[in-house]
Amino acid sequence: MIITAVWLMLPAYLPNSMAAVFGGGRPIDGGRTMSDGRRMLGDGKTWRGLIAGTVCGMLLGMLQMYYLSRSSSIFGVELPSFGEGMGALLVIFTLAFGSLLGDMSMSYFKRRMGYKRGAALPGVDQLDFVMGAWLLTLITSPAWFLGNFTSSIVLTLLIITPLLHFVTNVIGYFIGVKNEPW
Ligand code: CTP
Ligand code: MG
Repeated sequence: MIITAVWLMLPAYLPNSMAAVFGGGRPIDGGRTMSDGRRMLGDGKTWRGLIAGTVCGMLLGMLQMYYLSRSSSIFGVELPSFGEGMGALLVIFTLAFGSLLGDMSMSYFKRRMGYKRGAALPGVDQLDFVMGAWLLTLITSPAWFLGNFTSSIVLTLLIITPLLHFVTNVIGYFIGVKNEPW
């Protein structure tokens, strides 16, 4: 169950870390502030992070598809596929891009609530990208999504994602790509 769940989410997990590694430069909000005087998204959401994160997530997804073309299981666990041809590419794209979209949407609401860039919002920081990836993929590939993200997979991911998020962010903090360990 855990292996299947993580396998399905790998293209959604990687973009966040890769955005932190490659991010920087021009912020997506162009430095704009809203009527509340706060930034629209903040300097933590950049074009470079968005694009590099999406590309890395898709590359990983394609690597997984390549793996599936050679073998259908890992450690004896049967692996699900992302679909066939263009459909699979779309799924991989929405998982990767949706995760960053979810993260970005929450930055918008965090700024409206007065949280500065990088301020921790427990629960939200750990799951915003999961929700974004799920929502966008559900909208664009409903049959694939509902067939693969069963209730037990969803439950498993809601439990293990915050743990994985914590571990990767602490690593990111110590290797210097993240400013805060969350
Ligand atoms: N990042 C980026 N572009 C994105 C997402 C992330 O450049 N679209 C980079 C930024 O350098 C960011 C880092 O990845 O600081 C970590 O991401 P995250 O924790 O989501 O950003 P925060 O700095 O905590 O900002 P926020 O409070 O808006 O979440
Ligand atoms: Mg953060």
